[in-house]
Amino acid sequence: SLTGTGRITAAAEAGGHGVGAFNVALLEQLEAVLTGAGRAGSAVVVQVSENAVAYRGSLAPLAAAALTAVRESDTPAALHLDHATRPELIRSAVAAGFTSVMYDGSRLPWAENVETTRRITDWCHERGVWVEAELGEIGGKDGAHAPGVRTDPAEAAAFVAGTGVDALAVAVGSSHAMTERSARLDLDLVAALRAAVPVPLVLHGSSGVPDDTLAAAVAAGMRKINVATHLNAVFTRAARTALRDAPALVDPRRYLAPAREAMAAEVARLLGVLGATGSA
Ligand code: G3H
Ligand code: ZN
Repeated sequence: SLTGTGRITAAAEAGGHGVGAFNVALLEQLEAVLTGAGRAGSAVVVQVSENAVAYRGSLAPLAAAALTAVRESDTPAALHLDHATRPELIRSAVAAGFTSVMYDGSRLPWAENVETTRRITDWCHERGVWVEAELGEIGGKDGAHAPGVRTDPAEAAAFVAGTGVDALAVAVGSSHAMTERSARLDLDLVAALRAAVPVPLVLHGSSGVPDDTLAAAVAAGMRKINVATHLNAVFTRAARTALRDAPALVDPRRYLAPAREAMAAEVARLLGVLGATGSA
Protein backbone atom coordinates (compact mmCIF):
# COMPACT_ATOMS: atom_id res chain seq x y z
CA SER A 1 0.00 0.00 0.00
CA LEU A 2 1.14 3.53 -0.68
CA THR A 3 2.35 5.51 2.30
CA GLY A 4 4.73 8.44 2.76
CA THR A 5 8.43 8.60 3.48
CA GLY A 6 7.59 11.01 6.31
CA ARG A 7 5.30 8.49 7.97
CA ILE A 8 7.79 5.61 7.56
CA THR A 9 10.62 7.75 8.89
CA ALA A 10 8.63 9.00 11.88
CA ALA A 11 7.73 5.42 12.85
CA ALA A 12 11.40 4.44 12.52
CA GLU A 13 12.47 7.40 14.70
CA ALA A 14 10.03 6.25 17.35
CA GLY A 15 11.16 2.63 17.03
CA GLY A 16 14.87 3.47 16.90
CA HIS A 17 15.50 1.54 13.69
CA GLY A 18 16.56 2.51 10.20
CA VAL A 19 14.52 3.03 7.04
CA GLY A 20 15.66 1.14 3.94
CA ALA A 21 15.48 3.34 0.86
CA PHE A 22 16.34 1.38 -2.26
CA ASN A 23 16.78 2.63 -5.81
CA VAL A 24 15.04 1.00 -8.74
CA ALA A 25 15.47 1.58 -12.46
CA LEU A 26 13.82 -1.63 -13.72
CA LEU A 27 10.48 -3.31 -13.09
CA GLU A 28 12.30 -6.37 -11.72
CA GLN A 29 14.11 -4.20 -9.17
CA LEU A 30 10.84 -2.60 -8.10
CA GLU A 31 9.38 -6.08 -7.59
CA ALA A 32 12.50 -7.15 -5.69
CA VAL A 33 12.25 -4.24 -3.25
CA LEU A 34 8.57 -4.87 -2.50
CA THR A 35 9.07 -8.63 -2.20
CA GLY A 36 12.13 -8.25 0.04
CA ALA A 37 10.42 -5.73 2.31
CA GLY A 38 7.37 -7.99 2.47
CA ARG A 39 9.53 -10.90 3.60
CA ALA A 40 11.16 -8.71 6.25
CA GLY A 41 7.78 -7.42 7.44
CA SER A 42 9.06 -3.87 7.02
CA ALA A 43 7.89 -0.73 5.29
CA VAL A 44 10.24 0.49 2.59
CA VAL A 45 11.06 3.53 0.47
CA VAL A 46 11.19 2.85 -3.26
CA GLN A 47 13.44 5.42 -4.90
CA VAL A 48 13.65 6.56 -8.50
CA SER A 49 16.58 8.84 -9.22
CA GLU A 50 16.94 11.58 -11.80
CA ASN A 51 19.55 9.31 -13.40
CA ALA A 52 17.05 6.44 -13.64
CA VAL A 53 14.57 8.80 -15.31
CA ALA A 54 17.31 9.82 -17.77
CA TYR A 55 17.98 6.13 -18.52
CA ARG A 56 14.27 5.47 -19.20
CA GLY A 57 13.95 8.71 -21.16
CA SER A 58 10.75 9.55 -19.31
CA LEU A 59 9.40 9.53 -15.78
CA ALA A 60 5.80 8.52 -16.48
CA PRO A 61 6.09 4.79 -17.33
CA LEU A 62 8.26 3.90 -14.33
CA ALA A 63 6.20 6.14 -12.05
CA ALA A 64 2.96 4.49 -13.16
CA ALA A 65 4.44 1.01 -12.74
CA ALA A 66 5.86 1.84 -9.32
CA LEU A 67 2.64 3.41 -8.04
CA THR A 68 0.57 0.48 -9.28
CA ALA A 69 2.94 -2.10 -7.81
CA VAL A 70 3.04 -0.29 -4.46
CA ARG A 71 -0.75 0.04 -4.29
CA GLU A 72 -1.20 -3.67 -5.10
CA SER A 73 1.39 -4.73 -2.54
CA ASP A 74 0.61 -5.65 1.09
CA THR A 75 3.86 -3.91 2.07
CA PRO A 76 3.64 -0.25 3.11
CA ALA A 77 5.90 1.59 0.70
CA ALA A 78 6.62 5.18 -0.26
CA LEU A 79 7.62 6.38 -3.70
CA HIS A 80 10.48 8.86 -3.54
CA LEU A 81 12.22 10.91 -6.24
CA ASP A 82 15.95 10.73 -5.53
CA HIS A 83 18.69 13.26 -6.36
CA ALA A 84 16.59 15.65 -8.41
CA THR A 85 18.56 18.67 -9.55
CA ARG A 86 15.89 19.92 -11.97
CA PRO A 87 12.87 21.61 -10.35
CA GLU A 88 10.70 20.65 -13.34
CA LEU A 89 11.38 16.97 -12.64
CA ILE A 90 10.15 17.53 -9.08
CA ARG A 91 6.97 19.09 -10.44
CA SER A 92 6.39 16.11 -12.78
CA ALA A 93 7.06 13.61 -10.00
CA VAL A 94 4.60 15.29 -7.66
CA ALA A 95 2.03 15.40 -10.47
CA ALA A 96 2.67 11.69 -11.10
CA GLY A 97 1.95 10.81 -7.44
CA PHE A 98 5.35 10.65 -5.73
CA THR A 99 4.90 11.30 -2.02
CA SER A 100 8.40 12.58 -1.35
CA VAL A 101 11.34 14.08 -3.21
CA MET A 102 14.98 14.82 -2.70
CA TYR A 103 16.11 18.14 -4.07
CA ASP A 104 19.87 18.00 -4.50
CA GLY A 105 21.34 21.47 -4.50
CA SER A 106 24.54 20.26 -2.87
CA ARG A 107 26.71 21.50 -5.71
CA LEU A 108 25.33 25.03 -5.43
CA PRO A 109 26.95 27.72 -3.31
CA TRP A 110 25.41 27.91 0.19
CA ALA A 111 23.11 30.91 -0.35
CA GLU A 112 21.78 29.57 -3.63
CA ASN A 113 21.27 26.07 -2.18
CA VAL A 114 19.29 27.56 0.74
CA GLU A 115 17.22 29.84 -1.50
CA THR A 116 16.37 27.18 -4.11
CA THR A 117 15.73 24.44 -1.54
CA ARG A 118 13.43 26.75 0.42
CA ARG A 119 11.39 27.65 -2.67
CA ILE A 120 11.03 24.00 -3.69
CA THR A 121 10.22 22.92 -0.14
CA ASP A 122 7.46 25.53 0.18
CA TRP A 123 5.99 24.41 -3.14
CA CYS A 124 6.10 20.73 -2.09
CA HIS A 125 4.65 21.37 1.35
CA GLU A 126 1.67 23.14 -0.19
CA ARG A 127 1.01 19.81 -1.91
CA GLY A 128 1.67 17.57 1.10
CA VAL A 129 4.96 16.28 -0.27
CA TRP A 130 7.91 15.49 2.05
CA VAL A 131 11.28 16.96 1.10
CA GLU A 132 14.83 15.77 1.64
CA ALA A 133 17.77 18.02 0.80
CA GLU A 134 21.52 17.76 0.93
CA LEU A 135 24.28 19.79 2.43
CA GLY A 136 27.93 19.02 1.89
CA GLU A 137 28.32 17.06 -1.31
CA ILE A 138 28.60 13.33 -0.72
CA GLY A 139 31.52 12.16 -2.80
CA GLY A 140 31.44 9.91 -5.80
CA LYS A 141 28.30 10.89 -7.64
CA ASP A 142 28.92 11.23 -11.38
CA GLY A 143 32.60 10.78 -10.61
CA ALA A 144 32.65 14.11 -8.78
CA HIS A 145 34.64 12.87 -5.81
CA ALA A 146 34.77 15.03 -2.77
CA PRO A 147 36.92 12.95 -0.46
CA GLY A 148 36.85 13.97 3.14
CA VAL A 149 33.86 16.28 2.82
CA ARG A 150 31.92 16.51 6.07
CA THR A 151 28.73 18.29 7.02
CA ASP A 152 29.19 20.79 9.84
CA PRO A 153 26.50 20.43 12.56
CA ALA A 154 25.96 24.18 13.04
CA GLU A 155 25.69 24.71 9.28
CA ALA A 156 23.29 21.78 9.04
CA ALA A 157 21.04 23.26 11.73
CA ALA A 158 21.10 26.65 9.97
CA PHE A 159 20.32 25.00 6.63
CA VAL A 160 17.30 23.15 8.03
CA ALA A 161 16.06 26.33 9.75
CA GLY A 162 16.53 28.34 6.55
CA THR A 163 14.83 25.87 4.22
CA GLY A 164 12.17 24.03 6.24
CA VAL A 165 13.19 20.65 4.81
CA ASP A 166 11.84 17.44 6.35
CA ALA A 167 15.10 15.46 6.27
CA LEU A 168 18.73 16.17 5.61
CA ALA A 169 21.32 14.12 3.71
CA VAL A 170 24.69 14.63 5.37
CA ALA A 171 28.29 13.86 4.50
CA VAL A 172 29.83 11.71 7.25
CA GLY A 173 32.31 9.58 5.32
CA SER A 174 30.25 7.63 2.79
CA SER A 175 30.80 8.01 -0.93
CA HIS A 176 28.44 7.21 -3.80
CA ALA A 177 28.79 4.16 -6.06
CA MET A 178 31.35 2.20 -4.06
CA THR A 179 31.56 -1.45 -5.12
CA GLU A 180 33.48 -2.46 -2.02
CA ARG A 181 31.93 -2.16 1.41
CA SER A 182 34.93 -0.57 3.06
CA ALA A 183 33.79 2.98 3.96
CA ARG A 184 34.42 4.27 7.47
CA LEU A 185 31.89 6.63 8.93
CA ASP A 186 32.50 9.35 11.47
CA LEU A 187 30.00 8.10 14.07
CA ASP A 188 30.80 10.92 16.50
CA LEU A 189 29.81 13.35 13.76
CA VAL A 190 26.57 11.39 13.19
CA ALA A 191 25.76 11.80 16.89
CA ALA A 192 26.67 15.51 16.80
CA LEU A 193 24.48 16.07 13.71
CA ARG A 194 21.65 14.16 15.30
CA ALA A 195 21.87 16.41 18.37
CA ALA A 196 22.09 19.62 16.30
CA VAL A 197 19.52 18.91 13.57
CA PRO A 198 15.78 18.67 14.33
CA VAL A 199 14.91 16.49 11.30
CA PRO A 200 15.84 12.89 10.38
CA LEU A 201 19.29 12.35 8.88
CA VAL A 202 19.83 10.53 5.59
CA LEU A 203 22.85 8.45 4.66
CA HIS A 204 23.67 8.41 0.95
CA GLY A 205 26.22 6.15 -0.65
CA SER A 206 25.38 3.39 1.81
CA SER A 207 26.52 0.66 -0.60
CA GLY A 208 30.10 1.19 0.50
CA VAL A 209 29.31 0.92 4.20
CA PRO A 210 29.80 -2.46 5.95
CA ASP A 211 26.83 -4.04 7.75
CA ASP A 212 28.13 -3.42 11.28
CA THR A 213 28.85 0.25 10.49
CA LEU A 214 25.35 0.68 9.03
CA ALA A 215 23.89 -0.68 12.26
CA ALA A 216 26.17 1.58 14.30
CA ALA A 217 25.19 4.61 12.20
CA VAL A 218 21.51 3.90 12.84
CA ALA A 219 22.24 3.55 16.55
CA ALA A 220 24.05 6.91 16.46
CA GLY A 221 20.96 8.55 14.92
CA MET A 222 21.14 8.05 11.16
CA ARG A 223 17.64 7.24 9.94
CA LYS A 224 17.08 6.84 6.17
CA ILE A 225 19.64 4.59 4.55
CA ASN A 226 19.92 4.89 0.75
CA VAL A 227 21.28 1.89 -1.13
CA ALA A 228 21.61 1.62 -4.90
CA THR A 229 24.95 0.30 -6.17
CA HIS A 230 25.17 -2.68 -3.82
CA LEU A 231 21.75 -3.96 -4.88
CA ASN A 232 22.64 -3.39 -8.54
CA ALA A 233 25.74 -5.50 -7.94
CA VAL A 234 23.75 -8.31 -6.33
CA PHE A 235 21.21 -8.18 -9.16
CA THR A 236 23.83 -8.16 -11.91
CA ARG A 237 25.94 -10.89 -10.31
CA ALA A 238 22.95 -13.25 -10.31
CA ALA A 239 22.11 -12.37 -13.92
CA ARG A 240 25.73 -12.94 -14.95
CA THR A 241 25.79 -16.35 -13.28
CA ALA A 242 22.56 -17.38 -15.02
CA LEU A 243 23.91 -16.23 -18.40
CA ARG A 244 27.23 -17.97 -17.85
CA ASP A 245 25.56 -21.20 -16.78
CA ALA A 246 23.29 -21.29 -19.84
CA PRO A 247 25.02 -19.86 -22.93
CA ALA A 248 22.08 -20.85 -25.15
CA LEU A 249 19.60 -18.92 -23.01
CA VAL A 250 17.52 -16.39 -25.00
CA ASP A 251 14.54 -15.55 -22.79
CA PRO A 252 15.44 -12.50 -20.63
CA ARG A 253 13.16 -13.82 -17.89
CA ARG A 254 15.59 -16.71 -17.41
CA TYR A 255 18.31 -14.33 -16.12
CA LEU A 256 16.09 -11.57 -14.74
CA ALA A 257 14.12 -13.90 -12.44
CA PRO A 258 17.22 -15.07 -10.51
CA ALA A 259 18.50 -11.48 -10.45
CA ARG A 260 15.20 -10.30 -9.00
CA GLU A 261 15.21 -13.08 -6.39
CA ALA A 262 18.80 -12.36 -5.34
CA MET A 263 17.98 -8.66 -4.93
CA ALA A 264 14.80 -9.43 -2.95
CA ALA A 265 16.80 -11.63 -0.55
CA GLU A 266 19.40 -8.90 -0.08
CA VAL A 267 16.73 -6.24 0.52
CA ALA A 268 15.24 -8.42 3.27
CA ARG A 269 18.69 -9.01 4.76
CA LEU A 270 19.61 -5.30 4.70
CA LEU A 271 16.35 -4.37 6.42
CA GLY A 272 17.42 -6.79 9.15
CA VAL A 273 20.79 -5.01 9.43
CA LEU A 274 18.86 -1.73 9.89
CA GLY A 275 16.76 -3.30 12.66
CA ALA A 276 13.58 -2.91 10.61
CA THR A 277 12.53 -6.58 10.46
CA GLY A 278 8.96 -6.99 11.69
CA SER A 279 8.51 -3.22 12.16
CA ALA A 280 5.64 -2.77 9.65
O1 G3H B 1 20.69 8.25 -3.42
C1 G3H B 1 21.05 7.06 -3.50
C2 G3H B 1 22.12 6.52 -2.67
O2 G3H B 1 22.86 7.54 -2.12
C3 G3H B 1 22.85 5.45 -3.38
O3 G3H B 1 24.25 5.39 -3.20
O4 G3H B 1 24.74 3.73 -4.98
O5 G3H B 1 26.42 4.30 -3.27
O6 G3H B 1 24.39 3.01 -2.62
P1 G3H B 1 25.00 4.05 -3.53
ZN1 ZN C 1 22.61 9.56 -3.04
